[in-house]
Amino acid sequence: MIFSEFIFNSTKKTMEIVVSGIRPTGNLHLGNYFGALKNFISMQNEHDCYFFIADYHSLTTHPTPHDLHGNVKQVLVEYLAAGLDPEKATLYIQSDVPETAELYLFLNMNAYIGELERCTSFKDKIRQQPQNVNAGLLTYPTLMAADIIIHKATKVPVGKDQEQHLEMTRQFANRFNRLYNVDYFPEPQAYNFGKSLVRIPGLLGSGKMGKSEGEGNAIFLADEPAAIRKKVMRAVTDSGPTIPNQEKPETIQNLFQLMSVVSSKDAVNHFNDLYNNCQIRYGDMKKQLAEDMIRFTTPFRERIKELLSDEAYISKVARMGKEKARASAAKTIQEVREIIGFKSF
Ligand code: TRP
Repeated sequence: MIFSEFIFNSTKKTMEIVVSGIRPTGNLHLGNYFGALKNFISMQNEHDCYFFIADYHSLTTHPTPHDLHGNVKQVLVEYLAAGLDPEKATLYIQSDVPETAELYLFLNMNAYIGELERCTSFKDKIRQQPQNVNAGLLTYPTLMAADIIIHKATKVPVGKDQEQHLEMTRQFANRFNRLYNVDYFPEPQAYNFGKSLVRIPGLLGSGKMGKSEGEGNAIFLADEPAAIRKKVMRAVTDSGPTIPNQEKPETIQNLFQLMSVVSSKDAVNHFNDLYNNCQIRYGDMKKQLAEDMIRFTTPFRERIKELLSDEAYISKVARMGKEKARASAAKTIQEVREIIGFKSF
């Protein structure tokens, strides 16, 4: 018993530390699942993972208390339903770890207005919401840096759009080390999963699956079968191929790509042959795709429903995550305070 505990602790120590934040916005769709979540799930086995719901960050858009709480709960439930395991990874809510806010304050003292203003995501926000350019938006990168280095993470699984934030995180971490002449914070690197990530197209023609592209573009893990059938049947197609082995236009390629993640190889080959012989009927293909999507999402939907009504389990998961994340964060903050020169009298 003691021996196996020793093994567990020593492997845990040598595992790389991974941190990633999840924005508490809306429901998870197939694009999120195949584009990121599947990799969180596989990483939780080999790494010391901290995955958190970024509710501090979401305050930049001033949600009502009711919406904020509901969104955090929904996201937590959907990630659990999709396979994040609170026994393997530390799953927590950002605001449950106020040490993050303290580190954010320290980092802000050495973050320069100029570099924050040059950040692409800040410039985008100024354009999108000129009526609400608050200091939280400006300092989004220092909060994100605090999220990451509070656990001294080295790997951060994020999409391409977050690379500049990661670069700034390294800058802030190195600046802290230099200022205090310590070798304290490691340099975190973005981790992009290589080839294992598939791009999931939306149903409305071009572009990737997302919520902002309009109703009907995304299939959500929580969607009811009727909704899935309706959206898939409305997917954009064309009048069909006229010469054998004709190249597929983007909308048709998208249907095949969607089929390749939820349907059997036989089904994909069957419709591919029909396409190449100019005998394809898109209605049949969509029917098959819809049924396969329903088969794929049904276990998720059922688990989401179950979890949403299991308040006791949700609060147990949140409490467990909070405890583990705070233990790690409190250690860092105590050391950082000492490095800075805050000593108790
Ligand atoms: N900025 C990230 C996004 O928009 C979310 C996020 C916040 C995050 N803090 C983080 C991601 C820390 C990784 C690590 O998706």
